[in-house]
Amino acid sequence: MSLEIWSNCRAATMQPDAAVPYGLIEDAAIAVEGDRIAWVGAAAELPAAMRQRAGRHHDAGGALITPGLIDCHTHLVYGGDRAAEFELRLNGASYEDIARAGGGIASTVKATRAASEEELLAQSQPRLQALLAEGVTTVEIKSGYGLALEHERKCLRVARSLGALNPVEVRTTFLGAHALPPEFAGRADDYIAEVLRMLPALHGDGLVDAVDAFCERIAFSTAQTARVFEAAAALGLPVKLHAEQLSDSGGAALAARHGALSCDHLEWLGDEGAAAMARAGSVAVLLPGAFYFLRETRLPPVALLRQNKVPVAISTDCNPGSSPCTSLLLMLNMACTLFRLTPQEALAGVTSVAAQALGLPDRGVLAAGMRADFVAWDVQRPAQLAYAIGANPRRQTVFKGQPT
Ligand code: NIG
Ligand code: FE
Repeated sequence: MSLEIWSNCRAATMQPDAAVPYGLIEDAAIAVEGDRIAWVGAAAELPAAMRQRAGRHHDAGGALITPGLIDCHTHLVYGGDRAAEFELRLNGASYEDIARAGGGIASTVKATRAASEEELLAQSQPRLQALLAEGVTTVEIKSGYGLALEHERKCLRVARSLGALNPVEVRTTFLGAHALPPEFAGRADDYIAEVLRMLPALHGDGLVDAVDAFCERIAFSTAQTARVFEAAAALGLPVKLHAEQLSDSGGAALAARHGALSCDHLEWLGDEGAAAMARAGSVAVLLPGAFYFLRETRLPPVALLRQNKVPVAISTDCNPGSSPCTSLLLMLNMACTLFRLTPQEALAGVTSVAAQALGLPDRGVLAAGMRADFVAWDVQRPAQLAYAIGANPRRQTVFKGQPT
């Protein structure tokens, strides 16, 4: 396997226990062998044998190199859009009013069911492209707008196709318990039984990497969520949860009891939920795009998460209803301005901690043995990535050792 060396760069390694902020290495070198990082450190300390063996030397031109960005919570495969609902909200309706009147998620379900696999792929590809243009190398994509076996399968197949067609790793999440489809109106328990039938079938097709649910008064109860989690555990699949977005429903504590990889949203998270997440090692995935777009006023309890040492990830939540957003860099900025995260916490939230939220210990940090997914940026210091609004200083992405 040939060895390639990237030098003339500064490296924000994002190693969690580093002695310096961002694990920053000045005048760094990164040696890549195949799809892995073989060595990273100060260029002056690069082992001579490695320098000699290198088949290729890349001059990074003074760029700042970070791990490839990881968007750990998206719903980017869907049909249609919800601009009309956006107008309704600006004319006074609330997100919950619209959901209760049969709009909201249900309207996206209608458009998604009506679309063919090819159409969905064509509609979703530009959203993924926008993420990749800002240095995303791993993205999670949820189902949850099909809500019937054939349509959930179609969405998950589109997610897998997106991964096959683009230089990015796609992790799929089955979110059958996202909303009650119209044909099950008033029969939520029956629909959960249907979700439990869909899950093994989709898993059998190799389409499911994890399982999620929406635990909320406008969605599913903790008891219904628990049934989904038990079914996931029976198949050995990790779980995560949309929890405490609109009310404190006890979802985070429930998810933690099931060893959830992450609990997401969390504006209404209380002491008990935070303590349970800390005990379980669940990551808090904060979604500033949804907070902003729904004009929420209750902030996620960042101080409580810090106190409990719950790791915090940041994601776009890319979806048509609550966060029509395809910019993870904008989320870095909003995590700082709206949620008061530090730029270092925010950058960890889209690299090392986002990897943890997906249960992927082989990425999110620049270190020997990790996947060679990294981005060269035209910035001097890491905080610039969170500071600028609407800038995209990406110069080059390397995915599995290959420049894209
Ligand atoms: O993450 N909270 C539930 N699901 C999405 C919104 C889905 C929609 O409105 O279409 C979210 O915010
Ligand atoms: Fe979401």
